[in-house]
Amino acid sequence: MSNGLENIVAAHTVLSHVDGAAGRLIICGHSLDELAGRTSFEQMAGRMLGGFLPDWPTPDAVPAALAAARCDLFETIVQTASLPLRLGPVELVRALTALIPDGESVETALKLLAAPAVFTPAVLRLRAGLDPIAPDATLSQAADTLRMLTGTTPGPQQAAALDTYLVTVADHGLNASTFAARVVASTRAGLVSAVLAGISALKGPLHGGAPGPVIDMLDAIGSAQNARPWLEAALDRGDRLMGFGHRIYRVRDPRADALKGAIRELGAETGRLVLAEAVEQAALAILRERKPDRTLETNVEFYTALLLEALGFPPEAFTCVFALGRTTGWLAHAREQIAGGKLVRPQSVYVGPRPQAAA
Ligand code: ACO
Repeated sequence: MSNGLENIVAAHTVLSHVDGAAGRLIICGHSLDELAGRTSFEQMAGRMLGGFLPDWPTPDAVPAALAAARCDLFETIVQTASLPLRLGPVELVRALTALIPDGESVETALKLLAAPAVFTPAVLRLRAGLDPIAPDATLSQAADTLRMLTGTTPGPQQAAALDTYLVTVADHGLNASTFAARVVASTRAGLVSAVLAGISALKGPLHGGAPGPVIDMLDAIGSAQNARPWLEAALDRGDRLMGFGHRIYRVRDPRADALKGAIRELGAETGRLVLAEAVEQAALAILRERKPDRTLETNVEFYTALLLEALGFPPEAFTCVFALGRTTGWLAHAREQIAGGKLVRPQSVYVGPRPQAAA
C-alpha cells in the first residue's frame, strides 16, 4: 500500500515528464524553457491535443475555432444561465462548465478549452454587479480573457504574460487533478465529466487552491521585517506555508522561475515583488531549520499568485485561471487514457471488522 499513491506509476504518457530531482519539466518533448514565453495558449493546445483528436483544426485555424467556441458559450450559457452568486468563482465556473453537453468530439474539447476563459470573467463581473462582456473573436484567447475581465483590450505584454502562465501550467505529470480526469475518462463518461473532475480536484488548497492564500499571506505579513515572526507563528500554529513544498520536486519548482521572469517582463509594481522575495527567502530558511530532513522549496503557486494579481485577477479567481491553463492537460490525458488505458480500478485492503461467525 502506498499512502497517497506516492511513487506508484499509473500511466505511460507522451504528454509530460516531471524530473523532481533535477527540477526539470518536459512537455511533449520540449523543456519548459523552450515553451514558456515562446508559445501561445493556442499553439500549446495544438501541440498537446492535435494527435489525440481527429479533426483538430490546423494550427492557423485554432485561434478562430477557439474564438467561435468562446462566442458560442457566451450566447448559449452565460446569457441564459441563472447563477447562484452565493457560490465562489471556481464553483460557479464548474457549474457553468457542467452545462456543456458531454461528449468526445473536437467541438466539445474546444468548448472546454474556451470555458474558463469565458466563464471566469463573466462570474467575476456578475458577482460585482456588472454585466458580462461578450468575447471578441479577433483576439487571442489570452488577450480576450483579460478584455472580458476588465473591459479594456490588454497590451501585448499583458497578453504574453498570461500566455506564459497558461503554457507553464498546461501539464505536469500525474498530478491529483490530472489523475482525477484520467480516472473519469477511463469510465468513458465523456470529456466534460473528465474536466469537471479535474476542476474539483484542482480547487483544494493542497493543489490549485494555494495561490489565493499566498496573497492573503503576503497581505498579512505586510513588510519584509515582519516575514520571519509571521511565518514562525504560522508554523507554530501548525499551518502549512502556501506556495512551498511539492510531492515530486526535491529542488526548486522550475515553473516558479518561469513565472517570476514573466512578472519582471510585465514591469509590474516592484514593491510587491520585493516583499514576496523577502517572504520567500525567510520561508525557505525557516523550513530548512524546522524540517531538515524534508526539502521544501518554492512551488509554482507562489509566483502564480503574484503574476495573476499583476494581471488584475482577484485572488478568489486564481484557481479558475489555473484551470484555464490545465484544461489542455486534462483533455490530452483524458484522450490518452481512452486511447490506451483500461478502466482505472485499483484494489483496497479491508481493515474493518469482520462479521461475527454464525452461532
Ligand atoms: N509548509 C509547512 N510544512 C510543510 C509544507 C509547507 N508548505 N509542505 C509540507 N510540509 C511538511 C508537512 O507538514 C510534513 O511534515 P511532517 O513530516 O513533520 O508531518 C512534511 O513536510 C511532508 O508533508 P506531506 O504532506 O507528506 O508531503 P506531500 O508530498 O504530500 O505534500 C504538498 C505536498 C501537499 C504540496 C505540501 O507541500 C503542501 O501542503 N504545500 C502547501 C500547499 C501548496 O503550496 N500547494 C500547491 C502545490 S503545487 C500544485 O499542486 C500546483
